[in-house]
Amino acid sequence: TNSVVSSKPLPIPPILEDKDPDPNRAEFHLTAQKGKTEILDGIESDTLGYNGNILGPVIRVREGEKVAVKMKNSLDDPTTLHWHGLRVDGENDGGPHSGIMPGDTWEPEFTIEQPAATLWYHPHMMQSTAKQVYEGLAGLFIIEDEVSDSLAIPKEYGVNDFPLIIQDKNIDKDGNMKYEPGMNDIMMGLYGSSFLVNGAINPFLEVPQGMVRLRLLNGSNGRTYHFELSNGQKFYQIATDGGFLEKPVEMTSLQMSPAERAEILVDFSELKPGERIKLIDSGSELSRTVTDEGAVELMELIVSEESTEVYEIPEQLTKIDRYDVEQANVTRDMVLAGVGATLTINDKTMDMTRIDEEVKLNDTEIWVVTNQRTGTQGGMPHPFHLHGVQFQVLDRDGNPPAENETGWKDTILVHPGETIRIITKFEHIGIFMYHCHILEHEDAGMMGQYEVK
Ligand code: C2O
Ligand code: CU
Repeated sequence: TNSVVSSKPLPIPPILEDKDPDPNRAEFHLTAQKGKTEILDGIESDTLGYNGNILGPVIRVREGEKVAVKMKNSLDDPTTLHWHGLRVDGENDGGPHSGIMPGDTWEPEFTIEQPAATLWYHPHMMQSTAKQVYEGLAGLFIIEDEVSDSLAIPKEYGVNDFPLIIQDKNIDKDGNMKYEPGMNDIMMGLYGSSFLVNGAINPFLEVPQGMVRLRLLNGSNGRTYHFELSNGQKFYQIATDGGFLEKPVEMTSLQMSPAERAEILVDFSELKPGERIKLIDSGSELSRTVTDEGAVELMELIVSEESTEVYEIPEQLTKIDRYDVEQANVTRDMVLAGVGATLTINDKTMDMTRIDEEVKLNDTEIWVVTNQRTGTQGGMPHPFHLHGVQFQVLDRDGNPPAENETGWKDTILVHPGETIRIITKFEHIGIFMYHCHILEHEDAGMMGQYEVK
């Protein structure tokens, strides 16, 4: 493992102020803007941010709440604001049809109709998603509900409940974080050699000597991580993309592909104050096929003298109603294929003027997603993302999903040669995207559109 000295404290993104005093309605103001961020000491790099220099504030809402957003584009280029994982109508989803010209403001409105979860928001313009996300446009969108209120888990934001947006970047010799993908990055997804957490390079975080909740977002363009703690300590995954798992899942390594989220509980009560452990990416087989670099350090966790009430790991987190295969009205095939720089779904590349799939409102459907083995290298994994819904995984190559994939998902990594069946109900009208969430692949057209009506 490379040894990195952490010199910067982990930035904690602020919670965005709700401008509406009505407790049942929230109004949020965001501005996408240009900024400067000191990534290497003493050197400022051009970056992009929402209401700041890099990344964005946390939007925190409650299930049942009405939400209005005013999103101003102060960039030089068009952008959109997509709510990744949110169940809303196509008009409010912020996909590539919702372009906001420089100087303009977009005003989506929606009601939160889904359980507590850690979602996120990011731009989604055709052909510039990868660049804009890479340069800093991303933020967390947290939903709370009665379940999250009632669970005896850490929930003091910035005290024992920490967001971690993990991203890899290439910093050039002048200290600039520029988006300059090469041909290989476009084919395989960009892999950076520096690691940022919440916009700071290899930061440190003082954690209380007790139970800590980490909300992880893989906000990287192309890299799939295998998160581990350097002392080999086990931790418990309590939530997937779309909310709590029914039961915590004990693990020592957690795989996350681009756009996936996970909430984990880590118990530091057995460690001594002053002890330092690292959050590492163990350098999976998957990332080795691209970078061959082995394990890397992402950030440092330093146990403080502060203790928190010690929490038990809950036995039960929530109850998830399972979709019944018998209720599915339609089954659709989605075949992902990448040959060199030609990246397709069902042999097509994205065309904004073409609707690829028509879905009937309130139908339950099974989507059979296959990563077709192609070419001589045997292909690569693609994280498949579906807008506008949260889905359940039925099986992977006919086998039941891993325990930590039994919750609500909106993005799922499909390995070369693998077939995954997912099931969901389409309860919102409009035009939505499905695509590979390796952003270079998405921009290259590995995306399609479905319309619900
Ligand atoms: Cu996270 Cu289509 O996006
Ligand atoms: Cu892909």
